[in-house]
Amino acid sequence: MTIKLPLHSRITGTGSFLPPNRVSNAALAERLAADGIETSDEWIVERTGIRFRHFAADGVTCSDLGFEAAKRALAAADCDPQALDLIIVATSTPDMVFPSAACMVQQKLGVHGCAAFDLQAVCSGFVYALSVADAMIKVGTASKALIIGSEVFSRILDFKDRTTCVLFGDGAGAVVLEASETPGILASELHADGRYVDILCVPGTVAGGHVLGDPLLKMDGPAVFKLAVSVLDGVARSVLAKAGRSEADIDWLIPHQANIRIMQSTARKLKLAPHKLIATVDRHGNTSAASIPLALDDAVRAGTIRPGDTVMLEAVGGGFTWGAALLDL
Ligand code: ACO
Repeated sequence: MTIKLPLHSRITGTGSFLPPNRVSNAALAERLAADGIETSDEWIVERTGIRFRHFAADGVTCSDLGFEAAKRALAAADCDPQALDLIIVATSTPDMVFPSAACMVQQKLGVHGCAAFDLQAVCSGFVYALSVADAMIKVGTASKALIIGSEVFSRILDFKDRTTCVLFGDGAGAVVLEASETPGILASELHADGRYVDILCVPGTVAGGHVLGDPLLKMDGPAVFKLAVSVLDGVARSVLAKAGRSEADIDWLIPHQANIRIMQSTARKLKLAPHKLIATVDRHGNTSAASIPLALDDAVRAGTIRPGDTVMLEAVGGGFTWGAALLDL
């Protein structure tokens, strides 16, 4: 196929998958109480907006969840997996140290030969992956990309730390991004600041056949909260300026689903009506790189977000990383 430059890229299908085990705050509180750790539905809902999260069964991996989401996105896009020339999985919880979960999804799809790699930017991973795939399509390196955010954060949670284990869940979301004559991804912007590595991390590593250090998630919640609210509206505004659009052009805001208070604060700063905020954090918890494509697919399948709508995606995550992308669906 001959590709004429410059090209646009456009999302042609979305899909998602949640593992069937849905855990309520009350059920989680009961599990923690068995270890003498106190929490409650009231505390979790009030501070985070989370009511439920899904946990993958033992042995179910990042690529398993990603594969399920990918099948749904490919079907929605009416895209034959054999036509894919790029697969990116955004994840911090891959099946193995290597090879990538993307290679495993490729194998599960029965496709061989196309480029496949993982991208690690924690909760900003999907926005990073979308931006990378968009650039690859625009320079002609790819024309049909499968972009997945997939996480099994339950594997890295410390269930003795109530300040973190109540926040996260497992799941996957995916989109098919294709070369297009009409604009889809209008603009994007990515950032990172390594000075903040320590405020959200899994500090352990594998060496000499052992896990060295702590392999469970550590977070300074208030520091993450402060940093998140300080960067999100700025990057969204910058992306709007690049695209030649204004706040009034945003039909829907899909922030990374970490905490309803962070999400509402950003929507307010962007002067968006509350109904323009897509929120699934109550049902999914924080699924890190999967949260945005999960929320996008949820809203598309519910008929809330429709073809032609303008959507702002924005995320913050460990690193510290952050970014935003504006798109016409
Ligand atoms: N149940 C009951 N009490 C709790 C729990 C819990 N699960 N967790 C903490 N507490 C207690 C604390 O011990 C503290 O008690 P104390 O006052 O006696 O010391 C009290 O609640 C208040 O704790 P804070 O940490 O100050 O609570 P805060 O209002 O900041 O909420 C939270 C904590 C929800 C983590 C908040 O800081 C937050 O949302 N931060 C953003 C972090 C985030 O969303 N991270 C997700 C990953 S990063 C990302 O996705 C970008």
